[in-house]
Amino acid sequence: MDRQVIEEIRVALGDRSYPILIGRNILERLPELLERTGAEGSAALVTDEHVAPLYGQTVRSWVEKAGLAAVECTMAAGEEHKRLARIEELCGQFLEGGLDRSSVVIALGGGVVGDTAGFAAAAFMRGLPYIQIPTTIVAQVDSSVGGKTAVNHPLAKNIIGVFHQPSAVLIDLELLSTLPDRELRAGLAEVIKHGVIADAELFAYMESHVDAILAKDLDALLYPVKRSCEIKAAIVSADEHEHGVRANLNYGHTFGHAIEAVTAYGTFLHGEAIALGMQAAGVLACALGLVDQAFVDRQRACVEAYGLPTQWPELPVEECLAAMKRDKKVRSGTMKFILAVRMGSVVHRTDVIEAQARSALESLKSGA
Ligand code: NAD
Ligand code: GLY
Repeated sequence: MDRQVIEEIRVALGDRSYPILIGRNILERLPELLERTGAEGSAALVTDEHVAPLYGQTVRSWVEKAGLAAVECTMAAGEEHKRLARIEELCGQFLEGGLDRSSVVIALGGGVVGDTAGFAAAAFMRGLPYIQIPTTIVAQVDSSVGGKTAVNHPLAKNIIGVFHQPSAVLIDLELLSTLPDRELRAGLAEVIKHGVIADAELFAYMESHVDAILAKDLDALLYPVKRSCEIKAAIVSADEHEHGVRANLNYGHTFGHAIEAVTAYGTFLHGEAIALGMQAAGVLACALGLVDQAFVDRQRACVEAYGLPTQWPELPVEECLAAMKRDKKVRSGTMKFILAVRMGSVVHRTDVIEAQARSALESLKSGA
């Protein structure tokens, strides 16, 4: 297979800047990235039960080629396992494996592994460096970049966590070859989101490359993965701690996180909940006169083309509203919504009244 390093994008954060390498068959770049961290002794290789048998051994061999002992920490897979108890377990495995302050953590997996391992790296001995090797679309286009680490609480999504930037992100598109179709589609919701918030051209690309992307044509996937990383890197570089523009990335998430919370993280995949959330955000923006119905229809058509949900008849509206009020984006009881004004551009609104949010949620029940 061809070794192909396609792109290097930089997240510019002063002395915490780091590279995102995107390519095919590029796991061999891991030793040089590990070397940059200055790590010695041990590297914790955090992954999950699905990814471990697929890529664990290969990554382990590159860790060992870097002169480090790999301490394997394999989590149960799934959003419901992204809980505080995992952090304690991982820290126990780090201690048993002999990690110390000169060690490094590697997160090999989807967003669940990345968010959990990143949080454990931040907490263990008050902070170890970590490297992200994302293996899902969600993780390659979103969660591995930007340093948001967290676990869920039964009452609210991603509510326990810290900002802790990785030292590097190594994106090997070949790892997507084993990704289940449903996970692929869910991840594409985050790409569509990037188009809506920042790049009408990316959105148009997603509209016109549905078949190739769903067939996992890696040539077709390169542009959306790379463009998503560029968008995210630029936003994170400008606003690491989400005081302003970074909140744009939460498009669809005020509704989506609530849907995840009320379904105990078990009904919808994260990207599916975000697809529903984007639909509700589109309906809300239209009701507020920010976009027209044609915008809502266009967004819905693209989301549905990727087999993602835009309606859910059983949606418990009042429970969702209650969950939305517990969201991190709430300030002094005021909900913040990221709403589109045209394709590629969003605004922040804190003047949405509860009845308008309820009405947007109601629309998801009927698909109206
Ligand atoms: P996930 O980590 O649960 O992975 C999805 C499933 O695919 C899992 O069963 C996993 O074992 C499996 N899998 C992963 N890679 C595979 C591969 N290459 N081949 C076969 N199977 C594979 O889910 P996700 O969608 O990657 O991530 C969702 C999580 O990411 C959510 O918790 C969400 O909150 C978080 N997230 C975080 C950020 C952030 O900025 N930190 C951004 C977006 C999403
Ligand atoms: N996924 C949203 C963010 O990283 O800010």
